[in-house]
Amino acid sequence: MTKKVLVIGATGTIGKAIIAELERDCDVIKVGGSSGDHTVDIASSDSIVELYNKFNDVDAVVCAAARGIVFAPLSEMTRDDYLQSMQSKQLGQIDLVVQGLKLLGKDVSFTLTTGLLNCDPIATGTAAAMVNGAVEGFACAAAIDMPAQQRINVVSPALLLEALEKYRNFFPGYPPVPAATVALAYRKSIMGHQTGQIIRVGW
Ligand SMILES: NC(=O)c1ccc[n+]([C@@H]2O[C@H](COP(=O)([O-])OP(=O)(O)OC[C@H]3O[C@@H](n4cnc5c(N)ncnc54)[C@H](OP(=O)(O)O)[C@@H]3O)[C@@H](O)[C@H]2O)c1
Repeated sequence: MTKKVLVIGATGTIGKAIIAELERDCDVIKVGGSSGDHTVDIASSDSIVELYNKFNDVDAVVCAAARGIVFAPLSEMTRDDYLQSMQSKQLGQIDLVVQGLKLLGKDVSFTLTTGLLNCDPIATGTAAAMVNGAVEGFACAAAIDMPAQQRINVVSPALLLEALEKYRNFFPGYPPVPAATVALAYRKSIMGHQTGQIIRVGW
């Protein structure tokens, strides 16, 4: 049966690769933050609820959306910097699951996105590391506490080849991974039966 997949962050570097991979055999609903076929602000519960009410028959939710994470030296970071950093990638992704349990089907799968910075940190990366660790901890615990057959996994990619020029100076010596390879991990999470997994790609 063709799976119906809601891809949030569809206009981004990873999102576009996920879509190229899934469109081969899935019914993909593309959701951007400010552009795209549909939009959502994952930092707003109301916006998530509105989206889910439109597409409450999906088999899978994928999130590769984030903005606003502060990269700065630890000695300059403020409480507000950490709070801002949490809004979309941490609280937004968690809220996608919390609202999804109420509004989506009993066997929906959730695939969230982190990255390697909580395990292989860079200078200026404390907020990103904090957010990744929180999302991964949430997913591990949520997997054993799902009220029905829902599943949850996290994809943790290395630096993407397609983002190398932009981030090269922040990631000296970190091997990049092609977006198409990262996209396979989302397929594995959606199509497989595993849950509570942190799927590392490229590191
Ligand atoms: N790029 C990398 O090398 C890399 C490596 C490891 C992990 N990651 C992680 O993977 C995720 C995606 O990265 P990316 O490089 O693909 O990002 P990107 O190219 O900057 O794209 C971000 C996507 O998120 C959407 N978005 C931003 N804020 C949103 C919000 N509040 N609500 C809904 N959608 C929102 C954007 O939509 P609009 O543009 O339409 O507003 C866009 O589609 C991030 O969590 C990032 O940390 C990236």
